[in-house]
Amino acid sequence: MNTIAFEYLKLLRDPMGVPFYPQVFEALMVLTFALHIIFVNLVIGTTGLSIWYYINRNDYTERLIGGFARASTIMTSLAIVLGVAPLLFVQVIYDPFWYTANNISAWWVLGFLLFIAISFTTSYLFYFSDKKGGNIIWAILSFVFLIIAGIVIHALSEQMISPEKWTKWITEGDKINLYGNKLHGINVVRFLHFIIPSFAVTGVFMMLASWYYRGKEGYSESYLNWLANKGRKMALIFSIIQGIVGAIWYALEIDVKGFALHPLTLLGILAGMSYIGYLMKLKEPEKRAIPTAIFTFMVILLMAITRETLRNVKLSNMGYSIGDYKLSLDWGSTVLFLLTFIMGIIVVSYIATIVYKLGKSNKKVTEMPELDTFGKIAVSLPVIWFIVVAGFGIILAFSNGALP
Ligand code: HEM
Repeated sequence: MNTIAFEYLKLLRDPMGVPFYPQVFEALMVLTFALHIIFVNLVIGTTGLSIWYYINRNDYTERLIGGFARASTIMTSLAIVLGVAPLLFVQVIYDPFWYTANNISAWWVLGFLLFIAISFTTSYLFYFSDKKGGNIIWAILSFVFLIIAGIVIHALSEQMISPEKWTKWITEGDKINLYGNKLHGINVVRFLHFIIPSFAVTGVFMMLASWYYRGKEGYSESYLNWLANKGRKMALIFSIIQGIVGAIWYALEIDVKGFALHPLTLLGILAGMSYIGYLMKLKEPEKRAIPTAIFTFMVILLMAITRETLRNVKLSNMGYSIGDYKLSLDWGSTVLFLLTFIMGIIVVSYIATIVYKLGKSNKKVTEMPELDTFGKIAVSLPVIWFIVVAGFGIILAFSNGALP
């Protein structure tokens, strides 16, 4: 891409600039992407395994499908909600690239919403049908649409970091095709790198489930042992496959100047290799479920950092840096944003605590007085937040003349 075209791209940035240091948005984008992809992996893994176990049925797998059917509906909503966060950040600091990539495949971007809606609906239909033995067609449909949605968002991610190919993509011979009806940036290896871990992450989830339900009425020792061992085996096998796919992806990107030996890239590779080594040596998977889950999260976060390093290096080689984005510091909105973020963590922690405790015991939530104060805080905070945000909105609307 020539310099003039690139200068033009820079002009497409928001003229207002960014309200806070772009590196902070970048860090939050990577963190929230890591969380997003964990839940994407869990929903793909639990749905895919449900189909596999439906074909290879026995008492244990039948029981597990029931659990997966329920879990995958929740995982899907978390994957969607946690997808919004990196979406907002990527639009803020990489806006010219993201919007161009979206325009090039506009129909697919619209289709993405439909694919997610179909996947979510069929995931629920599978869950409801499970009580009557499960209708696997719903799980298959849900899985297929998840993969299609994944391909769309993957293509956009690849398209945005390939501005040198944009012209080629929108021209057909001597004609220009601006219909947005094609997906161009499909990089199979990169896509697999985000999909294969689904089964490793679900393996860790099975280890956690075995640890969590130990001692609970109705869960036999032999079932929980089977669950933990199966989980460990899956985590190991799919992490090895993931390592191979990662190595191929790395080899394909080796020409990107400054990427292959970047300290963050090397850190990501080292994390991946240490993880495989750790899983190989792992004994008593149920007892080590929590450290394994923490290690898994760290590795995924480091992979997300390596992914961002690739984008950062690739675009800065072409002259774009998020560091030179115009800065219009706005402390008010930044503080409000951070307070909202902290409030969100408190509210979600309360819900997570309740779910954790309810699942472990046979008590009702009304029989847990120790959570009363926490509950009152978690319920009051959103009310206060709403009053503050709506109040600000109304005051500002009156003071700048938007409202009479
Ligand atoms: C539930 C179905 C979904 C699946 C299977 C899925 C899958 C993926 C995958 C595989 C990637 C990485 C692509 C790559 O780097 O090549 C990704 C990234 C991303 N996803 Fe999702 N996703 C889903 C839902 C969503 C939703 C509903 C949103 C937004 C509301 C979203 C927003 C994003 C964003 C913004 C990125 C890129 C972040 C960045 O560039 O740093 N995803 N997703």
